[in-house]
Amino acid sequence: MARLADKVCLITGGARGQGAAEARLFAAEGGTVWIADVLDDDGNALSAELNCQYRHLDVSSESGWQVLVQEIVEAEGRLDVLINNAGIFRAHRLIDTPLEEYRRVMDVNATGVFLGMREVAPQMIKQGSGSIVNISSLAGLRGAVGAISYGASKWAVRGMTKTAAVELARKGVRVNSIHPGLIETPMADELGVGLDKVANRTPLGRTAQAEEVANMALFLASDESSYSTGSEFIIDGGLNAL
Ligand SMILES: NC(=O)c1ccc[n+]([C@@H]2O[C@H](COP(=O)([O-])OP(=O)(O)OC[C@H]3O[C@@H](n4cnc5c(N)ncnc54)[C@H](O)[C@@H]3O)[C@@H](O)[C@H]2O)c1
Repeated sequence: MARLADKVCLITGGARGQGAAEARLFAAEGGTVWIADVLDDDGNALSAELNCQYRHLDVSSESGWQVLVQEIVEAEGRLDVLINNAGIFRAHRLIDTPLEEYRRVMDVNATGVFLGMREVAPQMIKQGSGSIVNISSLAGLRGAVGAISYGASKWAVRGMTKTAAVELARKGVRVNSIHPGLIETPMADELGVGLDKVANRTPLGRTAQAEEVANMALFLASDESSYSTGSEFIIDGGLNAL
């Protein structure tokens, strides 16, 4: 299958975890994949495996985004898909959260998504088409007890998704958010909760693999989701239904 044939796709945080699963799947589906991350060894190894491009990008850097988007558009002549996937997690309750930590989590998880959308939108508007997929979380739908900065950032992603979707809809650009539950990636090890405990609480009785989120991202990146914009796509084994 080539569900992303002729589509140029940029995936942030693509060196490992869900972003790497998306890079593999998108490449297999005929997409031209660019990976951006701060983990250069992992990113370079994956780009060699997939025969795609890797670039260092700290998503909180405005100039970094400008340089990368310009490079992609110069090299490929277009940019069809942005997966705003890069993120960090910090576990602190409200009264224990240092301001510096709150600011860094917001910088990466929320400002990074804002900058990404703002920088790719002009090219997508010019093309009259594009799909932006923002990775939020179940923590962007409910209280993130014990991780207030993370929760704030993921609610910001959900809110920005809707604003951008409405502003860009008549330009042919769709914007949606994905809300994963517990996915078995390196980030899951930082959550401070046992995977077994979450699995037991989850209606489907298990946690999930990165590839399962990648399948949803593929649907949203492709033209198969042509009538979806401004929407929340939940992939959580039924946790949010409890
Ligand atoms: N794993 C989960 O259970 C879970 C649940 C809900 C949402 N999410 C979200 O899914 C996304 C992917 O996370 P993951 O589970 O693959 O975790 P991960 O830690 O394996 O991957 C995150 C990637 O983002 C990169 N990154 C971090 N800071 C960056 C920065 N400043 N600039 C560029 N790249 C940066 C990391 O280097 C890493 O490659 C994140 O946005 C995360 O918040 C994860």
